[in-house]
Amino acid sequence: MARPKIALIGAGQIGGTLAHLAALKELGDVVLFDISEGTPEGKALDIAESGPSEGFDAKLKGTQDYADIAGADVCIVTAGVPRKPGMSRDDLLGINLKVMKSVGEGIRDNAPDAFVICITNPLDAMVWALREFSGLPHQKVCGMAGVLDSARFRHFLSLEFDVSMKDVTGFVLGGHGDTMVPLIRYSTVGGIPLPDLVKMGWTSQDKLDAIVQRTRDGGAEIVGLLKTGSAFYAPATSAIEMAESYLKDQKRLLPCAAWCDGQFGLKGMYVGVPTIIGENGIERIVDIQLNKDEQAMFDKSVDAVKGLVEACKGIDDSLA
Ligand code: APR
Repeated sequence: MARPKIALIGAGQIGGTLAHLAALKELGDVVLFDISEGTPEGKALDIAESGPSEGFDAKLKGTQDYADIAGADVCIVTAGVPRKPGMSRDDLLGINLKVMKSVGEGIRDNAPDAFVICITNPLDAMVWALREFSGLPHQKVCGMAGVLDSARFRHFLSLEFDVSMKDVTGFVLGGHGDTMVPLIRYSTVGGIPLPDLVKMGWTSQDKLDAIVQRTRDGGAEIVGLLKTGSAFYAPATSAIEMAESYLKDQKRLLPCAAWCDGQFGLKGMYVGVPTIIGENGIERIVDIQLNKDEQAMFDKSVDAVKGLVEACKGIDDSLA
């Protein structure tokens, strides 16, 4: 049986890490596409040359030609520009919107059956635009944010409790921005919800509030340290987790930017929600009940995403 084909659109920091992880995990053959001549070819060759030592079987190819992504089972999109210190994700809107147009058309014409995961920021607006430009079914186009935001939340919680990250679950909803909503009530250590751990004296509400804020600022913290770009290891790992769930029909429950039409009371928009990812793409949105405070935070986040989508429509008439 032929190996699955994974197309990575954008061969920068995240794209290269995605290719490395996909090869190490033997998820399939990898095509790296980028407009920067030599970058995808160089990274593909470099990773392929690690194969004998790592012992993986995967073909890697770098290209500037969309025809090479033909028949891809998964496309992961990181094409665009990352932020620099002092920039918000929203500052990238105008430039990355143009990139989504060419990428969306490239996927539409060459890999219309793929499951598409967008990583390019500002995430929720870019995944919406990518879906519009590509015309693919909504359940086959999603955005990676919630897995990363939850992973950051889980990491910080594991430090606070001095327990293994494996035993910490975390739940982050909403847009991938300053208004994201880490849900304390649904986050646990070994199944014990965080509010119970406060009652048990394991931590205080103030400390939890600080962790929530650090999670919201998680991307900016890395940008501030790196100075020349944004995070790439954890974003790549998060998207690979989603791709693997699709390719292996694992039906993982993963938070991601998904098309909500009715769920969470939303009328047709992309925002971060819990989903089930399996062979059909986003197979289900887990429409949990929010309490009053959570709903207020979620509404604020939804409004921020709506504002960005309107801004996209203002920039590109074909989206209006
Ligand atoms: N088509 C294909 N590739 C493109 C295009 C395009 N139209 N425009 C830019 N690129 C490529 C660049 O040549 C570069 O190699 O996208 C790549 C982006 O890589 P980096 O600059 O290293 O950025 P990275 O850290 O990988 O982040 C990519 O993900 O998390 C988000 O905010 C981040 O939007 C950014 C994206």
